[in-house]
Amino acid sequence: MDTKVYLEAIEKELTLCCDRFFYDNSQVAQAARYSLLNAGKRIRAILLFLTAEMCNKNWKDYVKYACAVEMIHCYSLIHDDLPCMDNDDLRRGKPSCHKAFGESTALLAGDALIGLGVETIINDNSIADHIKIKAVKLLTKAMGPMGMIFGQELDLEHENKPASKEMLNSIHKHKTGRMISLCGQLGSIDSELNCQQAYALKLFFENVGLVFQIVDDILDVEGDQAQLGKPVGSDNDNNKSTFITLYGLEESKRIAAQLTEEANVKLKDAFGDKADMLIEYTSYLLNRKK
Ligand code: IPE
Ligand code: IPE
Ligand code: MG
Ligand code: MG
Ligand code: MG
Repeated sequence: MDTKVYLEAIEKELTLCCDRFFYDNSQVAQAARYSLLNAGKRIRAILLFLTAEMCNKNWKDYVKYACAVEMIHCYSLIHDDLPCMDNDDLRRGKPSCHKAFGESTALLAGDALIGLGVETIINDNSIADHIKIKAVKLLTKAMGPMGMIFGQELDLEHENKPASKEMLNSIHKHKTGRMISLCGQLGSIDSELNCQQAYALKLFFENVGLVFQIVDDILDVEGDQAQLGKPVGSDNDNNKSTFITLYGLEESKRIAAQLTEEANVKLKDAFGDKADMLIEYTSYLLNRKK
């Protein structure tokens, strides 16, 4: 699948949003731009666009939602790398935000990206007000204290303290899964799905979100730092519970493949050939090296 047009659209719009909503002479804005622009894989944006396409919509109408998700995701990465969290010095192939700009500026740059994410949706006049409200509700829920933030809380709580398998599932589903599921929710925000479709889409994104973090755990062990653009061995250094510490590498890979297969079968049953692009993309997500 060629994702080039999606990538060009998201990069262009992210840059425009920064130009529109940030001052030129702000260090915090510089730091936010530094972390946000150019080097992310944008898998969340692509999942969102592919969902809209599967629902017979024009993906170009969903670029602002994708920007919002990528902004909030980027904020979570800036904070995740801080010394008080994972203490990682490399992100997207460059010094982490706090390494390049200092901790206080990085903290504020993360904060700024939360606001920017919400502003990006709220200020889009092409979206009807009731849909905007729905979108912001979904966004704030997914990123909030019962979503990604809760996952990060549990993740830190379980450094130097082994997590059970149930707990590890909950950590991964919250810290990573919720922001990925959000892409399915926003990509189908104004679509009328039947019960089978709604259920299949939900399950698909839950599985894909969990798989995404399982593969992230795998790459933290056997990835190549230069290709990954972030440190390898960070989980081990921080004594985290991961899929590798609980299941080992081979079993983790088997679980990831099985969850992907289950997700794909359900999606194909519910959406038929329309599901093919999302299904194709899951094989990239499963086999990615960065
Ligand atoms: C990294 O996400 C953090 C996780 C939730 C696993 P990505 O692997 O999508 O990072 P970028 O956006 O491409 O840098
Ligand atoms: C982070 O998980 C998930 C976020 C909410 C940012 P990780 O801590 O494993 O992500 P990386 O490996 O640093 O990208
Ligand atoms: Mg972390
Ligand atoms: Mg981390
Ligand atoms: Mg990781």
